[in-house]
Amino acid sequence: MSPSTLLPEPSFTLTPMDKTPKEKHDFGAVVTDLDLNEISDEDVSALREAIWKHKVVVVKGQKDLLPTKQWELVTRFDPDAPQVHSHGNLKEFNKKGGVLSASRDVYAIPGAENVRLIGKGYQGADHFGLKDVTVKHALSHDWHAIELPLDQFNRGHTRFQRWHIDAPLYARDPAWFTTLRCVTKPRRPDGAHLTIHWDDGSGTTMPTEPGLTAFVSCVQMYDLMSDGEKQVADHSWVEYAPHPYQWIADCKGNTTGLGLYTQGKERRVEDISDWDPREVKRYPMAWVNPVTGEKAFMVHGICARRLFLRSSPGEEPRVVDDVVEIRAFLKEIQSRVLKPEYVMLPPLEEGDIVMWANYQMFHTAVDYPDSFGPRSMHQANIGASTGPVGPVPIPATA
Ligand SMILES: [Fe+2]
Repeated sequence: MSPSTLLPEPSFTLTPMDKTPKEKHDFGAVVTDLDLNEISDEDVSALREAIWKHKVVVVKGQKDLLPTKQWELVTRFDPDAPQVHSHGNLKEFNKKGGVLSASRDVYAIPGAENVRLIGKGYQGADHFGLKDVTVKHALSHDWHAIELPLDQFNRGHTRFQRWHIDAPLYARDPAWFTTLRCVTKPRRPDGAHLTIHWDDGSGTTMPTEPGLTAFVSCVQMYDLMSDGEKQVADHSWVEYAPHPYQWIADCKGNTTGLGLYTQGKERRVEDISDWDPREVKRYPMAWVNPVTGEKAFMVHGICARRLFLRSSPGEEPRVVDDVVEIRAFLKEIQSRVLKPEYVMLPPLEEGDIVMWANYQMFHTAVDYPDSFGPRSMHQANIGASTGPVGPVPIPATA
């Protein structure tokens, strides 16, 4: 990626998002005066750079964006990537997606197979060629080990669903960016409010509009670490389970949406069929932003099977393969940004498309009562041409 000084001025307008003095998150920008159906190569480069720099970018006013053009944009962001969604084709996703595909319906948009309809409720007689589809299962709170009673949920008490990066963590590398267009937004009836509860005994809450996606910055997560912790993050790596979402298919999450609730329900690796040791992913703990040079603490804890911890390049790593210890280690670090002042839910109007640097951020859906109406989002990303890069090389095999 070229340094910004070499790029021509973009034709669009980019404005950093507002924040109140109480808010400590340091990401987010809004782009206006841009038609993604007709975007020039120079503007694709400038937008790519803006996403790496601002981490979350909302492009306003894309009501007429064609699904084929959304996919085309995704491929232009990373032109050397194989032309397939990071989770593969839909058949493969539904067969191998484990906890990801079991908990929700995902549809491919006809003619633009790599653009996925996600959301919930009735999508209308003809949604971009999908006839009379009602998205069932949707987000739901089935994921949380300590259930949220339905009557509380229907009164506007909600939770973060599952903090994550969009990453198969097996075979293909995660996408650099995810794009998510808001096609239909739920409506909050007059007087109704929606409050996200941590439900972890802390009493922490924050308000939200329905149907939005929440973000925290893993760069800020890194910055909140001590010097000693940063040394460990810079030199350590993580091995993910083979077909990790199958491995955790029977597991449940914490009420905050961060990490797994330990119940000993991980499948035995010997019972996971059809996997190739060469496709198992090992990634550095810290991922370096190719444009800004910032480091992000990027560990997808729910899928992590082994940590290899060391503080310098020459050191023999300490291998942690006890998931309870892995979770305790990660929770201590990752929960520091899980506070209202670091969480942002960028507002979206119908037609807006949010794009984020998947190598720098955690995100999650936040469910809302069905009575608020259907939600339709078009999601697309592409398995990256080059995977995450750490501050120092990690051994090729472990
Ligand atoms: Fe996601």
